[in-house]
Formats: sequence, structure tokens, C-alpha cells
Amino acid sequence: MRNISEVIVESKYLTALTGAGFSAESGIPTFRDEDGLWEKYRAEDLATPEAFWRDPELVWRWYAWRMEKVFSAEPNEAHRSFAELEKMGILKTVITQNVDDLHERAGNKNIIHLHGRLKILMCTKCGKEFEINSPPKIPPLPRCECDGLLRPGVVWFGEPLPEKDLRKAQEEALKSDVMIVAGTSAIVQPAGSLPLIVKREGGLIIEINPKETAISHIADFKIRMSAVEAMRKIMEEICKLLNEEKS
Ligand code: APR
Repeated sequence: MRNISEVIVESKYLTALTGAGFSAESGIPTFRDEDGLWEKYRAEDLATPEAFWRDPELVWRWYAWRMEKVFSAEPNEAHRSFAELEKMGILKTVITQNVDDLHERAGNKNIIHLHGRLKILMCTKCGKEFEINSPPKIPPLPRCECDGLLRPGVVWFGEPLPEKDLRKAQEEALKSDVMIVAGTSAIVQPAGSLPLIVKREGGLIIEINPKETAISHIADFKIRMSAVEAMRKIMEEICKLLNEEKS
């Protein structure tokens, strides 16, 4: 852990890529774990434009349930550690696949959401966006002033990622000499390729995940722990390092 903490403290441009596992200890289910969301529901039945237009009420009920979970969740110690690392000027940007706002609520400012945000609703007719703080009651289906049907502001399977955010994330990966990849199976593209960009440019990958992932083979450090446990140990080591430097 000391070696990893030294790499983090001495990094010139540290970024992080997070996935659902980073919010797991805040009580938000992941997608592909044993008790994950895709165990109970099929992604194609809920998280695609076709599913939405086929049965908007079913999709809206699922998202209202997810919003309930997300809006009532609290940032965990791993989120707070990332906010601390940003305040220390060490962590430059968090690139997240998560649609929750726990990184924001923990205090991080430089965040890129690759898959959208649950707090945003979009009108399917006029494109207007609304920020919400509580889930809509379903039924009735939420509508815009223009009477268009509103949809969750998240990226569905088969939809392109927000171009600007993806480009920014790729630029951040190109600048990274170290990237922490935490709480993601790294299966879904193009997010899963960001660590490959860092590696190709000669950067180091620190993986935080209790299990092997699709990018474990390129990770320079594999911390087989939960995000909270790993970040607790890393922050302890960083404190020791910084105190030694002072004395
Ligand atoms: N700490 C760290 N990692 C954890 C924890 C934890 N407490 N709990 C689970 N994990 C790991 C799992 O081992 C797994 O590798 O988090 C990962 C979660 O993987 P997924 O469920 O596939 O979630 P994610 O990688 O974010 O999925 C990417 O897929 O369904 C789409 O759009 C959705 O953004 C999502 C994308």
C-alpha cells in the first residue's frame, strides 16, 4: 500500500475511472454482481430506447425506483477520500460511469459523467433538460411544458455517449500518468478503453476491485479490496508519507 500511495502522491496528473462498485457501499446495487440489477432485470427490457417507447411506464417505474435509491444514498468514505485527494491537488479529474451524484455530494468538482445523470430529465420532443431532487411519482408519465414525454438523462444501450464528455474523458486519459480504476468491471465500452489509453501512453493503472476485471491484465497494481477499505488504507499511508516529508 505504501508503494501505491507513493505513486499517487508523486503523480503528475492522477485521474480516476469509477463504476457502480464505487457506490456499492452507499447501498446502491451494481449491475453485474451476484445481486446486481442485471440479475433481476434484463438491460434490453429497461435501459434501451426501444424498451422506453415500447413500455414507457415500465421503464419509468424502474428508473423512479433507482432514483429513490440514489437520492436517499449518502456518499461513502471512498467518495470522501476522492474529494480529499482533489482538495490536496493530487486527483485532477474523476471520470465516472455512475449516474448518481455521490462524487458531487462528496465534494469533487472536476467530474465527467460518461453515462449521464439520474438527476437530469430530458424532453423527448423539445430536448429541454430539468434537474430534479426527488423521483417523479409514476403514473402519470412525466411530461414537459411542451407536452413531450420526459425521459431520464442517462445513456441507454445503443445510444452514443455525450460527445463532449467522451472527448474530454479521452483527453484526460491522454494526460494521465496514473489512473485509479475503481469499482468497474470495465466491460462496457468506450469507458472500458480509457485505462488502455493511459497504459498505451506509458501511464500506471491502479485497480481497486475485489474481483478480476476486463482490464486487470494491464493493471500495475491490483488492490483486491472494496473501494472504502482500499481508500481508507491509501489515505492512511498518504498521511504518513506527507508527515514524514514535513519532519
Ligand atoms: N468496491 C469496489 N468494487 C466493487 C465493490 C466495492 N464495494 N462492489 C462491487 N465491486 C465491483 C465488482 O467486482 C464489479 O467489477 O464493481 C464492479 C461493478 O461492475 P458492473 O456492475 O459491471 O458496473 P459498471 O462497471 O459500472 O458497469 C458499467 O454498464 O450497465 C451499464 O451503464 C451501466 O454504467 C454502467 C456500465
